[in-house]
Amino acid sequence: MGKKITDKVTWVGKVDWELTYFHGHEYSTSKGSSYNSYLIRDEKTVLIDTVWLPYDKEFVTNLKKEIDLKQIDYIIANHNEVDHSGALAEIMREIPDTPIYCTANGAKILKGHYHKDWNFVTVKTGDTLNIGSSTLTFVEAPMLHWPDSMMTYMSGDNILFSNDAFGQHYATESLYNDKVDDCELFAEAIKYYANILTPFSRFVSKKIEEVLSFNLPLDMICTSHGVIWKNKPAQIIEKYMEWANNYQENQITIIYDTMWDSTRKMAEAIAEGITRTDSEVTVKLMNASKEDKNDIITEIFKSKAILMGSPTVNNGLLYSISGLLEMAKGMKFKNKKAAAFGSYGWSGESVKQLTEKLKDAGFEVINDGIRSLWIPDADEVKKLIDYGKSYVDIIK
Ligand code: FEO
Repeated sequence: MGKKITDKVTWVGKVDWELTYFHGHEYSTSKGSSYNSYLIRDEKTVLIDTVWLPYDKEFVTNLKKEIDLKQIDYIIANHNEVDHSGALAEIMREIPDTPIYCTANGAKILKGHYHKDWNFVTVKTGDTLNIGSSTLTFVEAPMLHWPDSMMTYMSGDNILFSNDAFGQHYATESLYNDKVDDCELFAEAIKYYANILTPFSRFVSKKIEEVLSFNLPLDMICTSHGVIWKNKPAQIIEKYMEWANNYQENQITIIYDTMWDSTRKMAEAIAEGITRTDSEVTVKLMNASKEDKNDIITEIFKSKAILMGSPTVNNGLLYSISGLLEMAKGMKFKNKKAAAFGSYGWSGESVKQLTEKLKDAGFEVINDGIRSLWIPDADEVKKLIDYGKSYVDIIK
């Protein structure tokens, strides 16, 4: 059922508590997610975004409990990935002539997805739609995170319907940011930024600066996933400005995979070396085949430097490490230092290959890395500890 947000605006979305993966298997959602849709009732009635396809019938059934669909004057499609446009076909079956406001790219995507010639009204930044006592203003936000993305600002209630931006994959019935666990909320918000928005950081900063330059009063940010930012909505904007600007904490993350524990022993010895220095740096170790890949990407996002390790297997790398490097390359991380390590028995190519792949993924590789033959003995462990100490000096 709907939840009233203001006198005019009602949340009519779907909380998906059971979602464990999003974008196929690309993004883990251990806290579920939500697909937020909003109904505005002014002199005109407006539906903003819908929900993911599997919930289309449930969405329309619930929407009908709020309103006769024929009373909907306009639909606004801020972004047309299927998690937001999924119920459109189900709605349009009943109200086929209703205008759908979206960007030009949005219309192309909707046609490509649903193969229907609906009544598209394409809008650009600054275009407005008067709906009675409020006006809706559209702001294109291309590549945040798709070419069609836009936001809609509602005057009077001073709400920014931001779609994916400022969202989190975080299921909650509580709806508002001050009604949930703050640690969980920000953990999901940074994971979302790190894994979805990092490649587009330069667009994020520019778009936020542009929106701030309008000097619009802002009482709420209504996202399309997770909570509504009602209490101090500017706080998530400030976080985005930090995250978009080559964000890093004083952290080194050591990511490795291991076959018979030699590369794990290397990782632990290097970590010990780092902690033996008087640096305040935080060190985290993550086994790529055991930890969640999106959590690892989040930790890389937070790090000023990483170390990545794989033993040599069949003249190459373990697949968990190769997969992560492919993900990391797509993130286009900037300003992060890196080096490789790994154990070997005979051919021993992994460190050289890792070094090249780290460079290819945009990391600033600071040395040729370090290898250990078979199982590190006490002398080798000391060498690795010293390597860890020197790594801290190099990245200072
Ligand atoms: Fe939540 Fe880009 O869809």
